Amino acid sequence: MKNTVVIGAQWGDEGKGKVVDYLAENAHVVVRFQGGTNAGHTVWVEGDEYILHLIPSGIVHPDTQCLIGNGVVVDPPELLKEMKGLEEKGITLEGRFWVGERAHVIMPYHKLLDSLDERLMGSKKIGTTKRGIGPAYSDKASRVGIRILDLLNPDYLRERLEATVKLKNLIIKEFFGEEGFDSQRLYQEALDWGEQLRPFVANIPEKMKGFLDAKKTVLFEGAQGTMLDIDYGTYPYVTSSNTSIGGVFSGAGVNLSAVEDVIGIAKAYTTRVGGGPFPTEEIGAMGEHLREKGGEYGATTGRPRRCGWLDLVVLRHAAWLNGLTGIALTKIDVLDGLKEIPVCVAYEVDGKRCEEFPASIHEVAKAKPVFDVMQGWSKPVCGATSWDTLPDEAKRYIGFIEEKTGVPVKIVSTGPGREATLLRG
Ligand code: GDP
Ligand code: IMO
Ligand code: MG
Repeated sequence: MKNTVVIGAQWGDEGKGKVVDYLAENAHVVVRFQGGTNAGHTVWVEGDEYILHLIPSGIVHPDTQCLIGNGVVVDPPELLKEMKGLEEKGITLEGRFWVGERAHVIMPYHKLLDSLDERLMGSKKIGTTKRGIGPAYSDKASRVGIRILDLLNPDYLRERLEATVKLKNLIIKEFFGEEGFDSQRLYQEALDWGEQLRPFVANIPEKMKGFLDAKKTVLFEGAQGTMLDIDYGTYPYVTSSNTSIGGVFSGAGVNLSAVEDVIGIAKAYTTRVGGGPFPTEEIGAMGEHLREKGGEYGATTGRPRRCGWLDLVVLRHAAWLNGLTGIALTKIDVLDGLKEIPVCVAYEVDGKRCEEFPASIHEVAKAKPVFDVMQGWSKPVCGATSWDTLPDEAKRYIGFIEEKTGVPVKIVSTGPGREATLLRG
């Protein structure tokens, strides 16, 4: 296998965890490059479910090296809890799991401010996961963040925290009228996180250089999806990082030569959690059918996911931005039994046909999907592992996606388990 980036091509929850776990069989290294505990990546192995928020999905393979890159925002207590949970399942982390020293830390005030900001926005709220993602990336950009390596430097940590907490308390107490934080207590907690994480802290660019020089095969695991990208998604209804290809280089400490393949993960339909426009959304009985059949409830927050049809305007946007060399199409089994399957090929905005994803959120909100209706299949694809056994209508559905995006569908996922996967070519 080539060094491969796995990137969400829609609004997240496309099945990245499942695909990374499948591909990790042939990888030496898996690295997360952006996002934080807003992610929930589900892996099913032999009837056991693993939901990973920070640690790469490759961790279930015992010999894979797993890294959290500098582009990730790390919530130490959540990370320590996730590490403990894996160790209780018999997964060893020592010597194979690393967290970037330059990664920024999500502090308790980030989580509180995420909730308070959402409350303040009322009906205009983003619908964040309330994991402190936006406030932590804001502090990083404002140069007042705390980094993982700061947790190992007591004097500097105290100085940084004292200044930052003073400012945060001003907002939390004076503006929101809530209880503030005690910087001395936070300092003690943060020192303790640092001590617990110390054996796992690493210089990620240096580690990656070592792996790549030794010709190890690397998987880059994205979180969220292209439509949640801070620059190219449905701004402001996005997350606070570059979920698309650029995030790999800034977030994993590698250069262009490290990437050979870019696989976009796309559900055979579309889902979205949180606020913001979603042109192909089905709000009636069909949306409910997809949600129930697809088990579309958030892996992080448990919120019901909004469901709708496949949107090829979105996939074309993702294909170009990320330079997709292949698509992994997931959850096609969820479409089993439908007589007809609409697929959005373009939008109509103010009476005009629109083939490109609009930058304006107002235009996206007005976009009416133009559908081509594909024939469904009566023989289920659920659990299929070979192309030849797929019904002709399912093959045509996949062929249509390839034709309209110009990207080959290289992997088809037909169930949540590792084995329910079909590799083409
Ligand atoms: P991620 O965030 O992209 O890793 O995706 P999530 O794990 O949040 O959501 C995907 C959900 O779909 C999980 O519950 C997976 O177990 C499940 N899943 C993944 N691939 C398939 C598939 O091909 N078929 C079915 N039925 N479920 C799948
Ligand atoms: P995975 O990696 C789906 C959404 C939130 C909200 C917006 C901003 O599992 O695909 P944030 O907490 O990041 O500030 O929220 O982004 N969101 C996701 N939606 N899957 C995710 O991750 C998401 N991570 C964030 O619902 O709309
Ligand atoms: Mg998810």
